[in-house]
Amino acid sequence: MKLKGKLGRLFSPTPAVRQTGRPPTSFIRVAYHTPRQVVLMTARHDGLENVWPIDWHVPLSLEPELYGVSLTSDSFGANLVRASGCFVVNFVPASWEEIILFCGSKSGKVVDKFAETGLQREPATAVNVSRLKDALGYLECEVVQVMEVGDHTLFVGAVRHAAQKGDAARLHHVDGRLVDVTGDFGDVTVSG
Ligand SMILES: Cc1cc2nc3c(=O)[nH]c(=O)nc-3n(C[C@H](O)[C@H](O)[C@H](O)COP(=O)(O)O)c2cc1C
Repeated sequence: MKLKGKLGRLFSPTPAVRQTGRPPTSFIRVAYHTPRQVVLMTARHDGLENVWPIDWHVPLSLEPELYGVSLTSDSFGANLVRASGCFVVNFVPASWEEIILFCGSKSGKVVDKFAETGLQREPATAVNVSRLKDALGYLECEVVQVMEVGDHTLFVGAVRHAAQKGDAARLHHVDGRLVDVTGDFGDVTVSG
């Protein structure tokens, strides 16, 4: 595991935290004791397309297969997911760190992140969204429930297609720092 203290400036307190003057030892720091895997979301609607990192994502149910992503409510990406009713969670290698940080520091509203990063797309199998061609794996999801939760929106996705294509260290976020974690997974492809 390699420590990389690079996220301090990206993870300065959110505007909401600044307004309330909440001390740095907030609930979120307690929760972040465990590294959270950083993935790249892809979404598309009406000719607009976006790719951005998140680490607030979680399996929610085995039967049916449901996966949750928590997105800043008024972000460009969240609005694309809300409008299209689908998204892809792309699991990507830690070696993409620079791309991941770029996609997390710019809004797709003003920057074509695919053009800027050279990320290759391909059509998803089961939903009307692009997925990342060189991802290690992906979950293609159809939104079945939307919950406004404070300053974020929880999108519950029914997993319509899932595939694991490769294995490599993945990037994890823990309390403002990034770490690489190596998994040990075989090739798995699952369709729902
Ligand atoms: C490591 C990392 C993790 C992030 N996790 C989340 C997250 O869980 N949810 C979220 O809404 N934004 C998260 N962000 C912030 C978004 O990626 C960022 O605001 C991005 O610019 C949004 O892009 P958009 O404006 O094109 O939608 C994260 C950023 C980074 C760098």
